[in-house]
Amino acid sequence: MHHFSYRDGSLFAEDVDLRVIADAVGTPVYVYSSATIERHYQLFEAAVGAAAPMGKAHVFYAMKANGNLGVLKTLAALGAGADTVSEGEVRKALAAGFPPERIVFSGVGKSESELRFAVEAGIYQVNIETEGELDLLSKVAGQLGKRQEAVFRVNPDIGAGGHAKITTGSSENKFGVSFEEVGRLYSRAANMPGVRMMGLALHIGSQIRETESYEAAYTKMVALVGTLRGEGHRVDRLDLGGGLGIPYDIPKDLTGRDFDHGPGLIEAYAAMVGRVTKGLDVELGFEPGRLVVGNAGILLTRVLHLNPRPTKQFLVVDAAMNDLVRPAMYEAYHEIWPVAEPEPGAAEVAYDVVGPICESGDTFTTGRLLPALKPGDLIAFMTAGAYGASMASTYNQRLLVAEVLVKGGEYAVTRPRQSYEDLLGTDRAPPWLA
Ligand code: LLP
Repeated sequence: MHHFSYRDGSLFAEDVDLRVIADAVGTPVYVYSSATIERHYQLFEAAVGAAAPMGKAHVFYAMKANGNLGVLKTLAALGAGADTVSEGEVRKALAAGFPPERIVFSGVGKSESELRFAVEAGIYQVNIETEGELDLLSKVAGQLGKRQEAVFRVNPDIGAGGHAKITTGSSENKFGVSFEEVGRLYSRAANMPGVRMMGLALHIGSQIRETESYEAAYTKMVALVGTLRGEGHRVDRLDLGGGLGIPYDIPKDLTGRDFDHGPGLIEAYAAMVGRVTKGLDVELGFEPGRLVVGNAGILLTRVLHLNPRPTKQFLVVDAAMNDLVRPAMYEAYHEIWPVAEPEPGAAEVAYDVVGPICESGDTFTTGRLLPALKPGDLIAFMTAGAYGASMASTYNQRLLVAEVLVKGGEYAVTRPRQSYEDLLGTDRAPPWLA
C-alpha cells in the first residue's frame, strides 16, 4: 500500500494536497511519503528477520535508489543500515545519522582514497569485488593500523532483473569475483594484515519479481559456505543483496489502490530465504533499495503545451528525461495519474507525454490514455521514488529537480530546486579565455 490517494477530487500525498506543493515549490518536483517508506521498510525487515536462521538479519538500505537526506533520516531512525557504493554515499549516510557500524561499502571500482575514507570512518563491512581491491584494502587499512572486516562479493553466474542494463549476477556482467576464485582469495586474505574476511555477498540484479533466480543463486552460495568452511575459513556473514521488484503497473481501477509488491512477493522471498539458509550458522544481510522507496515517491509535473499532429497528440510537460531518466534509459513504465481526479467515465485521449529536452528520447510514454488535459494541469508520474531523483542530471542546463518529503499533514522541502547561481557558478573559464 502507498499513501497517494484522491480526496475531494485532488491527489494527495498522505494528508497534503499535491496542488499545494506544486504551487509553493514549483514543478517538476519529487514528493515522497514517509508513511510509505516506513511501511515498506518495516514489512521487509520483519519478513526477513523472521526467516533468518537464529533471527539474525541486517537490512542495509541501498541508498543509490534515493539518497535524499529526508528519506535517509527516516530510514536511519527506523534502525536501518545503509548500503553505499561511493565515498559520497558513505559521507551522506554518516551525515544522515547512520552509525558507521551499520554501513556497508560495495561497488565494482573503489579507489584508494575512497577505501581509506571508509576504513577510517570505521564502517561495518567492505564488499570486495576484485583481487586488486583485496590487496588495496589490506594495504590501506594496514597503513591506518586497522583490520577491516570484509566479505567477497561473488558472481554466482545467475543473472536476473527487469532489464539487461540492471542484471548483475551473470558471469558476463562486471560484478564480483568469480565463483571458482573465492577459495583461493580467501586463503590469500587469511595472511593479510589489513583485512578480516567475514563471509560472502552477492547481488544478482534489480526489479526481480520472482524467487526462482534468487533461490538458484542462494543455493549456490550456501554450498559455497560449506566448501569454504570445509577448507577452514571463517564464514559468519552472508549478504544476499537487493533487487526485489515492485509493481509499476497500478490497476486502472483506482478503487483497488493496494498495489504493494504483488501477491505476497516479500513473503514468498522471505520464506525461500528461510528454506535455503535453514540451519546455517550465519548472519544474513540484505540490500533492498527500490522495494523500500519505489512506491513511496512520485514526480509531479505541469503540462506546458499541447502539440497536436495528424496521427497523435503530444503532451509537453515541464519534467524531462534529466529529471526522470528511467523511461528513456530502460523503456521503463510509470503510471500517470492526473492530480485532478478524473470524472468516472470521462473521455480519454491518447497522449505521447514528452519533456522539453532536445532529443526524441525525451519521451515518457506513447499513446497513453489519459483524460483530456490542458496547459497548467498537473500530472504525477507514479512509483518514481527509486532511481528517479538519484539519477537526475542538469542536461540541457536544466536545474536539478526539487524534492519534498511529506509526513502526515506536514511537508518539507528536503532538497530545494537548484538555483541558476549554483548551476552556473561552479564553471571556470580557462585562463586563456578568461
Ligand atoms: N545492492 C547492490 C550491490 C546493487 O548494485 C543494487 C542496485 C542494490 C543493492 C539495490 O537494488 P534494488 O533493491 O534497488 O533493486 N537504475 C536502475 C536500477 C539499478 C540498480 C543498481 N544496483 C533502475 O532505475 O531501474
